[in-house]
Amino acid sequence: MSRRRILATSALPYANGSIHLGHLVEYIQTDIWVRFQRMQGHEIHYVGADDTHGTPIMLRAESEGITPEALIERVWHEHKRDFDAFGIGFDNYYTTNSPENRAYCEEIYGSLQAAGLVARRPVEQFFDPVREMFLPDRYIKGGCPKCGAKDQYGDSCESCGATYAPTDLVNPYSTVSGATPVRRESEHFFFRLSDPRCEAFLRAYTQQAGHLQPEAANKMLEWLGAPGESRLSDWDISRDAPYFGFPIPGTLGAKFFYVWLDAPVGYFASFANHVDRRAAEGTAIERDHFLKPGHDTELVHFIGKDILYFHALFWPAMLEHAGYRTPTRVYAHGFLTVNGEKMSKSRGTFITAGSYIEQGLNPEWLRYYYAAKLNGTMEDIDLNLADFCARVNSDLVGKYVNIASRCAGFIGKRFGGRIGAMAHGAQAAGTPTTLLEDMRAAQGTIAGLYDAREYGKAMREVMALADRANQYVDHEKPWELAKQPDQEARLHEVCSTALNLFRLLTLYLKPVLPRLAQEVEAFLSIPPLVWSDAGSILAPGHVIHPYRHLMQRVDPKQTEALVAANRESLPGAAQPATASTTADGTGTASAAATATRPAKAGPAPATADGSAAGTAGRKAPATADAPGIIGIEDFARIDLRIARIANAEKVEGADKLVKITLDLGGEPRTVFAGIKSAYAPEALVGRLTVVVANLAPRKMKFGVSEGMILAASGEGPGIFLLSPDDGALPGMKVK
Ligand code: 2FM
Ligand code: ZN
Repeated sequence: MSRRRILATSALPYANGSIHLGHLVEYIQTDIWVRFQRMQGHEIHYVGADDTHGTPIMLRAESEGITPEALIERVWHEHKRDFDAFGIGFDNYYTTNSPENRAYCEEIYGSLQAAGLVARRPVEQFFDPVREMFLPDRYIKGGCPKCGAKDQYGDSCESCGATYAPTDLVNPYSTVSGATPVRRESEHFFFRLSDPRCEAFLRAYTQQAGHLQPEAANKMLEWLGAPGESRLSDWDISRDAPYFGFPIPGTLGAKFFYVWLDAPVGYFASFANHVDRRAAEGTAIERDHFLKPGHDTELVHFIGKDILYFHALFWPAMLEHAGYRTPTRVYAHGFLTVNGEKMSKSRGTFITAGSYIEQGLNPEWLRYYYAAKLNGTMEDIDLNLADFCARVNSDLVGKYVNIASRCAGFIGKRFGGRIGAMAHGAQAAGTPTTLLEDMRAAQGTIAGLYDAREYGKAMREVMALADRANQYVDHEKPWELAKQPDQEARLHEVCSTALNLFRLLTLYLKPVLPRLAQEVEAFLSIPPLVWSDAGSILAPGHVIHPYRHLMQRVDPKQTEALVAANRESLPGAAQPATASTTADGTGTASAAATATRPAKAGPAPATADGSAAGTAGRKAPATADAPGIIGIEDFARIDLRIARIANAEKVEGADKLVKITLDLGGEPRTVFAGIKSAYAPEALVGRLTVVVANLAPRKMKFGVSEGMILAASGEGPGIFLLSPDDGALPGMKVK
């Protein structure tokens, strides 16, 4: 395999809002991909920056009584802190307000101008005569022209959902000064996207295999229209002073580059800064191999689907006509919903990264959960908090960590930390050698899935292997071998085998769980795992460190506290994602609808995905409030799992009860079930059934019951235990 050279980016967050769980979908998705490529031995540079320019940032700083520079400096530290906490391993995290960015913007603009691709035209806009500034639509309010509701934004009515132009508002006013805006004309600069050269380039670029996902390429066709139809409009790249941004050369400080011009250029500026910093440390990176055409390098952007047209149309067209390379791939992901709905401040599901950390939740829980949900499409993903707890507990703690926690102690206590030989010979779950070989054989599949961003499928592959490792341990029962003096060698062999399997699972999970992998590497006393280590084992005689528990279970109380900490008592339900996150004050309705970044005005439809506008005051459907009817959220709180009855026995002194030991995919549970009248305990062993896995433990006279198995009964005699169809496995979720 040849060594790939990749420059990877995630979208740049605005420097006036907090990082929240919606943002983290993208940063985690990118970071996993970057770590995976690095483990493969490829050269990859992952850069980011804060997106610092524009009217909202200027006004926000003003309202805080500080300079924009002071604001963006403060926010940069907050963002960096959050990224570090979630293990987002940027090689460089920079700012778009940098000398490198200004130089690149000026150069690119100069080249576009020289190519005849910049036009100037007068534009009429609203102007605030008191503040003496042009007003983005978002800063104009007034009465809805349709329903008359007061204080509506210039683009849509939150009361009746109507959409309109700011000029349609009744008694419009500036939200900056309260003054009545006036219409005023000024000269704007346009990037001539409608030029036949741009159109021809974009038709070819967007349809060439691999640049965009198929659904994104189709969207572009819609935006481009039929050949000859020329649907692209020129793009307004200037804003009038006062504006926080880079002045356009030759305009004497009167005009500035629109923030969306300098933001993507910020990717290059951050990379250039990274190259310089590494050079100062003695490492040379060939900068222009990544930025100029004609080199065997890749430029890969991870973005949200709401900013597709900036990355798939404007940005490649700018680069192409300014003599730079174009993106190799633009990977767009969907939006995040929480508990099946848009993130909402009033429901407490607009959760910031900072609050997640403050509440003491482990960032790697979220990394794993997102990985388990992500795929290579633009589909939205849902963070269901009950499912989050169940999945982390079942997969990471119940399956993966469980292997080490059941075996490592014996190696420490009984064999001085020394690893023994791998086991050979027939076993119920296949010979352990076969298991190891199977695990190794899976590396190609898992690698392919990571590379294609099919992380959900990759996690399922890894967890299926973890199930098999657990079955091996279940079968060998090291805790019983440990009680038999003549089984010392076997105990050593079994535990050494299990730890080797655990090491391989760690390798496969490392892109998702870098911190946990680091702890495992320290515990196993091995150098950082890379993908090619799948071919080796912990050699007999290798000494490991004493085992310390690697991961706590999530307590659902922690997610409840997280929601409570983020809940704002606001009237209505869903709240807009706040105007502070928009570049120019457009598209907030879309932000509310999607819980990530808002869509911006572009040459194409304002909402990239056609998402609905106007969400304030949404309520759960009336049916969920009716007596006896539950909403899907209520149902989702019940964690139903497939369980195997590992053991069943009579309970002395109890007429009706059977004591059952369940296997939920490696996680043993005891339940007491009142089914003795219908089932002889021995007839139950080995059966699969369904268990309520998140029922609070109940102390009974004969012991603690840790769940409830499901059975049917009617008026007549008989109790009928539920069984899943063939193919279901212990631990699977029933939904
Ligand atoms: O939508 C947003 O949040 C923008 N700040 C993303 C910019 S990405 C890139 F173009 F810089
Ligand atoms: Zn209205």
